[in-house]
Amino acid sequence: MPAPVARFRPPQLIHGADYYPEQWRHIPGVLAADLRLFKEAELNTATVGVFAWAELEPAEGVYQFDWLDEVMAGLHAHGQRVLLATPSGAKPNWLAAQYPEIRRVGEHGQREAQGFRHNHCLTSPIYREKVKLINTQIAQRYGQHPALLAWHISNEYGGYCYCPLCKAAFREWLRKKYVTLEALNDAWWSRFWSHRYTAWEQIDRLDESIHGLCLDWKRFMTHQVGTFIRAEVAPLRQVAPLIPTTTNMMGHYDLYDYHTLAPEVDFISWDSYPIWHGQEGATTPHWHVGLWTTFLHDMFRAMKPDEPFLLIETTPSQVNWGPLSPLKRPGLHRTSNLLAVSRGSAGVCYFQFRASRGSNEKFHGAVVAHDGRNDTRVFRDVQTLGQLFKNLAPLENSRPRPQIAVIQDYQSRWSVQEMQSPINQQKNYLATCVEHYAPFWQQGYGVDVPGQAADFSRYQVIVAPMLHLLLPGTAERLTAFVENGGTLVTTYLTGYVNESDLCFVGGFPGPLRKLLGIRVEELDALPAFRTVPIQPVAANALGLVGTGVAREVCELIHAETAEVMATYAGEFYTGRPAVTRQVTGRGVAYHLAARMDADFLQIFTAAILREAGLAPLLRDALPTGVTAQTRMDADGTPWMFLMNFNETPATVTLNPMTWSDLETAQEVPAALILPAFGSRILRQR
Ligand code: GLA
Ligand code: ZN
Repeated sequence: MPAPVARFRPPQLIHGADYYPEQWRHIPGVLAADLRLFKEAELNTATVGVFAWAELEPAEGVYQFDWLDEVMAGLHAHGQRVLLATPSGAKPNWLAAQYPEIRRVGEHGQREAQGFRHNHCLTSPIYREKVKLINTQIAQRYGQHPALLAWHISNEYGGYCYCPLCKAAFREWLRKKYVTLEALNDAWWSRFWSHRYTAWEQIDRLDESIHGLCLDWKRFMTHQVGTFIRAEVAPLRQVAPLIPTTTNMMGHYDLYDYHTLAPEVDFISWDSYPIWHGQEGATTPHWHVGLWTTFLHDMFRAMKPDEPFLLIETTPSQVNWGPLSPLKRPGLHRTSNLLAVSRGSAGVCYFQFRASRGSNEKFHGAVVAHDGRNDTRVFRDVQTLGQLFKNLAPLENSRPRPQIAVIQDYQSRWSVQEMQSPINQQKNYLATCVEHYAPFWQQGYGVDVPGQAADFSRYQVIVAPMLHLLLPGTAERLTAFVENGGTLVTTYLTGYVNESDLCFVGGFPGPLRKLLGIRVEELDALPAFRTVPIQPVAANALGLVGTGVAREVCELIHAETAEVMATYAGEFYTGRPAVTRQVTGRGVAYHLAARMDADFLQIFTAAILREAGLAPLLRDALPTGVTAQTRMDADGTPWMFLMNFNETPATVTLNPMTWSDLETAQEVPAALILPAFGSRILRQR
């Protein structure tokens, strides 16, 4: 019999918060007040137990669950569901004192003193054993609890450990992978600088000059986290095989390959902490924060594209760890959280419910502040959103199914980070992915942001910015994608290295050379004061019109079999190809040889979408900084979320008579004004 699959199918849109009753259990009356406030805040879910180990097991093998029993029962009685955590994200003092090997060792060999959190050794068999024991206790006690919705595994797995156990495990992992040192030396190109290894024990330091070693270390650490999660999950699955598991991932985090970790859990969740109003300036418009946040939603959703994901942490007001964290301006609480739902999140959970009284996060935003009141601006924002969520029930079982992918690939990201190259100060891998994503966002297209191992057959258009490292098979799969009618867009710095970070010999873009019909000869690095105009070729097959500007990085390429759509109109490379196109089978592949300005990317993206026959959501262009997204309800009726991320009102032009407002049930006018940071949910009539 196949093992049962735990599916994440929450019975309603989740509106939840991280709750830390262990911090308050010595103070009478707080739990009772909190249970009331949870309901009043229109919340329906609590994440509990994330850092509660020392309160659950105050001494080795001594368990104390009475307080958690009461919390679970209370939450259940108040209509709350629970995301119950395993406590491995922070270890009790007694455990660290008793077993020093569980404490992480830094890069320079120093073992950390006990304290803080997220700093256990990823390999230590003792830590894994202790985690297994406490997880087993938790599973046995609460695995059948009626309030239990899902398991929250640990918290924000992060960092590396360089202890002897981890290094030995790394060497073991390498032995399995390469079998012989000869093969390892070849893959790591270790004849360079006399780095050749003649005994496995010599592999001791993470030498950043050996790029193949760095990649393997990151893969190994990802692997260790994967086996750690598996070990954590095993006792939970044994007791409660149908309760789904998740672990909270982090938006910009790249020490692990999240695409490799995704299969270890049943559903994806992530922590989103955009700093609104803090980063914009002359060069970064306000709405960029909304753009980046959406990109990350699409990235996490695409890790399990057929499952709901969950925005499992976001602040109801400010964070306390940024250099400067302004208050969210009115409207943004609602708009930024509707954004998550519009991209397929199963709901929204806040960090945190009640502000702690002391220690590191006492000034972090919370649904209930130190005054304990239910009439604050933040509390009301939360409450109002919770009421609105009840009207969104028809969306619960629908999922976005984008036809467009912008690839963000951890392996390429790592190899770009590691490379020493002419553009060291302006590599900007992630920002480049977002730049290519922006034109879709701006016109309300649904987009997935997967890695290079994704199933390409799901898509009609794939944009692969700076796909620097090609894993075996990727070029073949991209070729099949194009042959079958897909549109592929690649850029400069694509197809330079293989899975070991060894350059492809015989011309870049390596195994994609034939599909793109180009050969790269040189790479120019432009300082900020120098840009190069881009000029479309007259009557080009793409119908590209309007000039562009290249900045920062220009490849000098030869169009071998490709047609040239646009050329450089400056520097000594005037007239040489900047944009190429090649038809293969039923599809077409484009290459952008330079980093183009945002306007040109808009024009180019619109042209390829026209060619691919993907119509924009609305007939008229959305104003800058406004995005839209549709989701189907249970009857197959499209709902459209319109969200303004500008600090000024914006007018959206709609096709007349087609939409009504979900909240007022009124028909919406053809010119719909969204207030600053405002949002509307429309339903097709
Ligand atoms: C992370 C952690 C939480 C909390 C918040 C604060 O997301 O998972 O425990 O520290 O940050 O923003
Ligand atoms: Zn270790």
